[in-house]
Amino acid sequence: MPLVTSTEMFKKAYEGGYAIGAFNVNNMEIVQGITEACAEEKAPVILQVSKGARAYANHTYLVKLVEAAVIECPDIPIVLHLDHGPDFETCKSCIDGGFTSVMIDGSSLSFEDNIAVTRKVVEYAHDHGVVVEGELGTLAGIEDEVAHDVGSYTRPEEVEEFVSKTGVDSLAIAIGTSHGAYKFKPEQCTVNEEGILVPPALRFDILEEVSKRLPGFPIVLHGSSSVPQEYVKMVNDHGGKMPNAIGVPESQLRDAAKLSVCKINIDSDLRLAMTGTIRKFFVEHPDKFDPREYLKPARANIKELVRHKLVDVLGCAGKA
Ligand code: G3H
Ligand code: 13P
Ligand code: ZN
Repeated sequence: MPLVTSTEMFKKAYEGGYAIGAFNVNNMEIVQGITEACAEEKAPVILQVSKGARAYANHTYLVKLVEAAVIECPDIPIVLHLDHGPDFETCKSCIDGGFTSVMIDGSSLSFEDNIAVTRKVVEYAHDHGVVVEGELGTLAGIEDEVAHDVGSYTRPEEVEEFVSKTGVDSLAIAIGTSHGAYKFKPEQCTVNEEGILVPPALRFDILEEVSKRLPGFPIVLHGSSSVPQEYVKMVNDHGGKMPNAIGVPESQLRDAAKLSVCKINIDSDLRLAMTGTIRKFFVEHPDKFDPREYLKPARANIKELVRHKLVDVLGCAGKA
């Protein structure tokens, strides 16, 4: 089947109590690892491309890689989505250039300016059969002093006005997740019986209030990597230095997927799997220099990581 929009996917996900995985793609091995897992698990998928990915790999290469995946995986629905579109022009370029979904990230603007730019993108996108994700509330990295301040969370009292005035098809909200591999400081965490650091819970109260105000409307979670400690250890055991890398517990993402969260964004976990695998390969095979030899196990581990997310976290295996 050709590339699709997320409309039908989100409707089924909302009703079925699961979420679609939105995985960031930057090169061929990542596209292959993700889509091979999705094809084998019969899972719908969103492949998303950031501004940084377009700058790195080039728009045309990424579109053609995704089109190749569509040909290789004819039985699963695939969405090509712009992640964190920074402005109207970037969104327009992706809409004109074959994407079926775009995000306009006006979350750093004033409420009024966010509405204005989002509405402008929605009008252009809908005229071209493309769907739009907007964002209210801000996610931040651990370096940002305001990362987990109350002011960063989405204000539920704003969501109805934002959605009705913009016409967006889905809404990303901030409930305590953040981008990258360092989502929580160790001092924010508690230690469980097994000595494992447990981060503070996501703000499910905000999610529930948003859902009450927007019944049936698909919600998106960014910054939802779980930072598997197995891969943090693999990085650190093979020359890397990633102390205190902590992600969102997968059980909380599973709970969110059962509610109104229909799209869960995962990028850092893929990066960790790829980097850990390649670091280990080089330590174990210092004489090897053929990129195919180290990219092959990296791609295989991305595939198994994605399979785990589809089956155990998102709940979307078998839903294609
Ligand atoms: O949310 C951001 C994604 O992880 C993409 O990251 O801008 O480094 O491509 P990037
Ligand atoms: P992570 O950094 O948690 O993988 O989040 C990715 C993301 O939100 C992409 O938009
Ligand atoms: Zn994001």
